[in-house]
Amino acid sequence: MSTPKLLLTDLVSGVNHVPSNYIRPISDRPNLTHVQSSDGSIPLIDLGALHGPNHSQIIKQIGLACQNEGFFQIKNHGIPETMISNIMKIAREFFRLPEEERLKSYSDDPSKTTRLSTSFNVKTEKVSNWRDFLRLHCYPLEDYMQEWPTNPPSFRKEVGEYCTNVRGLVLRLLEAISESLGLGRNYISNQLGKHGQHMAMNYYPPCPQPELTYGLPGHTDPNLITILLQDDVPGLQVLIDGKWVAVNPIPNTFIINIGDQMQVLSNDRYKSVLHRAVVNSNKERISVPTFYCPSSDAVIGPARELIDGEHPAIYRNFTYQEYYDKFWNRGLATKCCLDMFRASSTT
Ligand code: OGA
Ligand code: NI
Repeated sequence: MSTPKLLLTDLVSGVNHVPSNYIRPISDRPNLTHVQSSDGSIPLIDLGALHGPNHSQIIKQIGLACQNEGFFQIKNHGIPETMISNIMKIAREFFRLPEEERLKSYSDDPSKTTRLSTSFNVKTEKVSNWRDFLRLHCYPLEDYMQEWPTNPPSFRKEVGEYCTNVRGLVLRLLEAISESLGLGRNYISNQLGKHGQHMAMNYYPPCPQPELTYGLPGHTDPNLITILLQDDVPGLQVLIDGKWVAVNPIPNTFIINIGDQMQVLSNDRYKSVLHRAVVNSNKERISVPTFYCPSSDAVIGPARELIDGEHPAIYRNFTYQEYYDKFWNRGLATKCCLDMFRASSTT
């Protein structure tokens, strides 16, 4: 008898039905025919113009996107195209490695700082998701790089360079977002303690019955801000005005989304918006999100300058560690983790 498969990639080669533990109850399925196309509904912002005469216009665009959609796309972001194609290539090669090679990185413990796993949290969830993922902590690089895979052979070098470049981009975005809130340019960066940066490589295999399951069900990101890179296969959907909108991939752009910590810092001016990943029957899909976050000991709460008589503090102060533990333990429930940190909440 063969041993049970730990990873979806190894389980699904050749199956023509979704195994029962991946099937969602009828009330909780993606309803793929009711999805709108994103053309125009997720702003595309030219970051190249941030340091020119149109600076204040770009800051305004960023602020409006953070307020209204919680999502925007960026072009002229300064990350070289070759670096983008290299990182996607490394991710693809990693998930094509032989099972025994991939399994060297396997763990189902969310507290591990480098791990390959599947679904979301196999220890706590009832229904599994159609996804395998490699998750890495990547700031400060030298603290974590020695834990990373060494196969493909250029993994550490290429991924390390990518992380450093994306961090530079995030710091520029944080200055712009601080400015858009009327705060000092370094305000947000200064709230994050020593800062943290995680990254995932998500692998969504083709799925014989995509209408029954999710790659990732609707969730908000628990971190501060997410920088998502994806290949040319659609799958990401964002909830806008109560409707799921499919984001069509645009080559060499990144998708930026506001996470829960930004919603707290901005005292609800900026929105951490529900999004999900759906799968399809023809093609594998790869996405590479960078999750920028406070360090575990950083204390997060609404910015004082955004609190007044008309705008009382909506959240209490908490450490990022406290938030992050709750996020991983409660599963990807649609009700937002943020609600548990409201100033008025008793839980
Ligand atoms: C995530 C996420 C979307 C995607 O990993 O948090 O939302 O398209 N991913 O893979
Ligand atoms: Ni997400």
